[in-house]
Amino acid sequence: MPQPVTLLGLESSCDDTAAAVVRVDKHGKAVVLASVVAGQTDLHAAFGGVVPEIAARAHAEKLDLCVEQALAQADMPLGDVDAIAVTAGPGLIGGVVSGVMCAKGLSAATGKPLYGVNHLAGHALTPRLTDQVPYPYLMLLVSGGHCQFLLVSGPDDFSRLGGTIDDAPGEAFDKVARLIGLPQPGGPSIETAARSGDAKRFAFPRPLMDRDSCDMSFSGLKTAVLRTRDTLVAAQEGLSVQDQSDLAAGFQAAVVDVLAAKTRRAFEAYPQTGARSLCVAGGVAANQSVRHALEGVAAEFDAAFVAPPLNLCTDNAAMIAYAAAEQLQLRAPDDFTLSARPRWPLDTVQPSMLGSGKKGAKA
Ligand code: KG4
Ligand code: ZN
Repeated sequence: MPQPVTLLGLESSCDDTAAAVVRVDKHGKAVVLASVVAGQTDLHAAFGGVVPEIAARAHAEKLDLCVEQALAQADMPLGDVDAIAVTAGPGLIGGVVSGVMCAKGLSAATGKPLYGVNHLAGHALTPRLTDQVPYPYLMLLVSGGHCQFLLVSGPDDFSRLGGTIDDAPGEAFDKVARLIGLPQPGGPSIETAARSGDAKRFAFPRPLMDRDSCDMSFSGLKTAVLRTRDTLVAAQEGLSVQDQSDLAAGFQAAVVDVLAAKTRRAFEAYPQTGARSLCVAGGVAANQSVRHALEGVAAEFDAAFVAPPLNLCTDNAAMIAYAAAEQLQLRAPDDFTLSARPRWPLDTVQPSMLGSGKKGAKA
């Protein structure tokens, strides 16, 4: 398909229902004409995590509304888009099926080609959507459901250098916040509490630092916070605000140290052939201490640091439309046998990762 090209994207793999319209010009420069995201935080709040059945039903109810809103925002009838892109995995199966069925319906009704996109490819290609970062670049994907280092060498060329073997960092932030009595989502509340905390009061572990790989683990760190909390509670019948802040600061410092050290390791696998870039995406990339530390590591290696704006770092459909725009140069559209793939590793050469988070097994 020749560029310029305009795509409608759909995303429904976890707890955000999203639709977007993205145009990519003949120089590869992308413009997000519309991006609509309907979150489901309220629906899941009482359960302390995402309930897959509730999520799937909400996606099925919201998808067509999001599509309508996105087309209205872009001021474009459905017939004017060139193709329809949809997240086909990895993620919660019910949500992914909702999106894939909706996209198939739109494709069947309009005759527009259909492209199933890997959700992680959407995140991993976002630095090209926002900043046209040249290949190859190093990507740290760090959210509530994912944590991996990728060497991105093309629209469909991803090498996984390592990742978490258990919890994703965002998941750890959320669980630790719950343990120490801070509100959800845990990331922002821990970051705020940590500002008035002493990161050195408690000596929390930096798991897998001695291992000569980019693999990470956050589950033991979470347990260490739990034990410290229990000791404090037993000794003084509760946590003071200062205890909460010190626990938050100590935990956050441990996560930051691990991410920074493993990013240094990841640079060792990044060829030094030209200008290098370290990119980050995912909700945890909103954390100022994390950003600051990664920016520092990028500077050590003389690499550019690219962190897309938060609305394009967290789950959205613009990244899905954009990923399809890059990939449609390389592959044929999908047909109506396209099916949802709850597990879909980006790098099919590396063995699958262990562990599971709110999005299921880490791909
Ligand atoms: O990428 P995202 O919106 O959703 C997926 O998980 O795909 O990431 C959400 C995660 C949550 O776990 C949240 O606690 C974390 O990102 N998060 C943060 C911050 N803001 C959001 N973690 C640390 N610091 C923050 N400021
Ligand atoms: Zn995501």
